[in-house]
Amino acid sequence: MKRVKIILAAGARPNFMKIAPLFRELKKYKGRFFPIIVHTGQHYDHGMSGVFFNDLDMQKPHYYLGVGSGSHAHQTAEAMKKFEKVCVKEKPRLIIVVGDVNSTLACSITAKKLHIRVAHVEAGLRSRDMSMPEEMNRIVTDNVSDFLFVTEKKGVENLIKEGRNKNDIFLVGNTMIDSLKFSLNRLRESDIGKFQTSLLAEELKNYGVVTLHRPSNVDNKSNLLKLVRILNKISGKAPLFFPIHPRTEKNIKRFKIILSKNIHVIKPLGYLEFLFLCKGAKFILTDSGGIQEEASFLNIPCFTLRKNTERPVTIESGTNILVGERINRLPSLVDKSLDKSSAKRRTIPLWDGKAAVRIIKILNKVL
Ligand code: UD1
Repeated sequence: MKRVKIILAAGARPNFMKIAPLFRELKKYKGRFFPIIVHTGQHYDHGMSGVFFNDLDMQKPHYYLGVGSGSHAHQTAEAMKKFEKVCVKEKPRLIIVVGDVNSTLACSITAKKLHIRVAHVEAGLRSRDMSMPEEMNRIVTDNVSDFLFVTEKKGVENLIKEGRNKNDIFLVGNTMIDSLKFSLNRLRESDIGKFQTSLLAEELKNYGVVTLHRPSNVDNKSNLLKLVRILNKISGKAPLFFPIHPRTEKNIKRFKIILSKNIHVIKPLGYLEFLFLCKGAKFILTDSGGIQEEASFLNIPCFTLRKNTERPVTIESGTNILVGERINRLPSLVDKSLDKSSAKRRTIPLWDGKAAVRIIKILNKVL
């Protein structure tokens, strides 16, 4: 029997942990599915991309498209042109796209125009903020997708409100949490000791972690300066480790912004290193989407440096606090959380490490 070809498309850092469990699960259906990994190359530095394949125990991509950086239109168009060639050659039965980056948008539209069915993993999330490029990517990707795999109940509600047929919507949990659970076990056996000793040991007792990369926070000088001043203040109470995104690093240099010596700026980390750092943190300050989810799962207070979140379950049941307009109050909010013994978290339904198992079981039925 001919195996069903399925392309897993990924392009940027937060995509890799979402496809890894799907690839592993597809491989279990040996005689049935033939998974192909396509990496568009939206992220290309080793620290933003290659290291994740090792850390997630995932084989190298079958195709690397080398799309690289550029304007949104350029990046999306390049990914579409190159991905189309792969689709024409491989003739897959299905494309799986994940998350909300430009590569997600590019690959879903390209496949759909070739009449290939599309599954979107992490469908239905909405920030209702159209100034975020990701929001447009989410809406368009969901619109062209045949199978909508959703991480939280609100996502199902959003899709129904937008008129989607409920037969296309599957609440399955979160493949990012699948990777997190898988990697917590691997962390014990890993080489993380070396990384640990590269950090300042005395600082590893009572610290926070910062990540920043949203254009709205880091591309504008006065916004970035305001944020850094607040971070400098917080770092007087607890040292901060700041694995820095290339976009943020460039802008801090360009705007000549000075960080306090209590903020330890480090290179972008691999998945296991980052997990190690977060697991031991007292709090996390971030503008990322996925980290809000990871922090909730790890039960670590997370202050999201944004005005909105497309992941409301992390606020309702997790440890996430949206700072947005209250940014000036951030130091006192962090203080309060340091005083508390632990954050309160309820278990988030279906975030149990088995989302990929559910997704592939469904695909096995419907394809
Ligand atoms: C992208 C995603 C965002 C995701 C983030 C995770 C979109 C619209 N944005 O944002 O949703 O949260 O990835 O990091 O798809 N760069 C490098 N090396 C790299 C990659 C990027 O130096 O390996 C630099 C380049 O100067 C590039 C800039 O970072 O122009 C931004 O990269 P890009 O992929 O355009 O957007 P991100 O900000 O990373």
